[in-house]
Amino acid sequence: MDINSQTKLYCLIGNPVNKSLSPTIHNYLFDKEKENAVYMAFNIEKEDLKSVVNSFRAINVKGFNVTIPYKIDIINFVDELSYESELIGAVNTVKICNGKLIGYNTDGLGFLKAFKEKNISLKGKNVLILGAGGAAQSISLTVANEGVKSLTILNRTVSKSRELIEKIKNKFPKIETNYGGLNEKYVDLKKIDVLINCTSIGMYPEVDKTPIEINGFNKNIIVYDIIYKPLETKLIKSAKEKGMITIGGLDMLIYQALLSDEIWLDRKLEIEKMKNEIKKRIL
Ligand code: ATR
Repeated sequence: MDINSQTKLYCLIGNPVNKSLSPTIHNYLFDKEKENAVYMAFNIEKEDLKSVVNSFRAINVKGFNVTIPYKIDIINFVDELSYESELIGAVNTVKICNGKLIGYNTDGLGFLKAFKEKNISLKGKNVLILGAGGAAQSISLTVANEGVKSLTILNRTVSKSRELIEKIKNKFPKIETNYGGLNEKYVDLKKIDVLINCTSIGMYPEVDKTPIEINGFNKNIIVYDIIYKPLETKLIKSAKEKGMITIGGLDMLIYQALLSDEIWLDRKLEIEKMKNEIKKRIL
């Protein structure tokens, strides 16, 4: 696609963004969809966030993604929030319509899409989440919204798992909740149906680490690791060896991007087909 005076600009802001896969994914999608649009990533400083957003509005940027560490700060600068971004308390996608900024969050929906693709429902399930950072916040609230039976959050810093569970209890009082440290022994692992790793343990280069030993779980659990580097973490490999259903982080990453594109372009895309094409391209 030639860049010309009609080309629409979409952006990513965060810090750091230099290793982000988002430009590859979105520019591929724009090309495939014959959109006269381009996606660029910008590393920005916290004190510049407001002026960057105002500049985007002034130069008619159509939309932008927000990544670490600005997904919460950006809420101060948008005019409206979607249901999901309000639920999660963070924004990863902004659409600019006639100068009005609307904040969305596609992280949770991207996570769910990878689940639903395997025809797995979370309703009535007992879920264990490891981690209590930004990703765990998006995922735990999304999971709670799906009507799970119980939700346990274990994190190295126990106070963060407690705070996250408090948020969940406020919004979803019927869900059974539990929290603790990463190595808590009192959690009944046999009762868990779905294990989700939202910590960075096992991420490249520390690929020989795992956030939890898989031995204590039932064979029929589903193991979801949101890490995508490496594509198969030690946790996923050991779950696979036991014959467990596994989901890696790359699908979620691509899905959240394609769901942003659906918002910006205001139409449904063949996102499962597109996801598989993009996966081949970036692997
Ligand atoms: P993200 O946005 O990817 O969630 P984050 O907010 O920095 O990133 O969260 C990282 C998560 O990985 C946290 O749950 C963190 O635990 P703490 O809250 O105790 O910091 C967890 N984590 C990172 N490195 C870890 C390590 N070496 N051992 C245990 N947990 C770790």
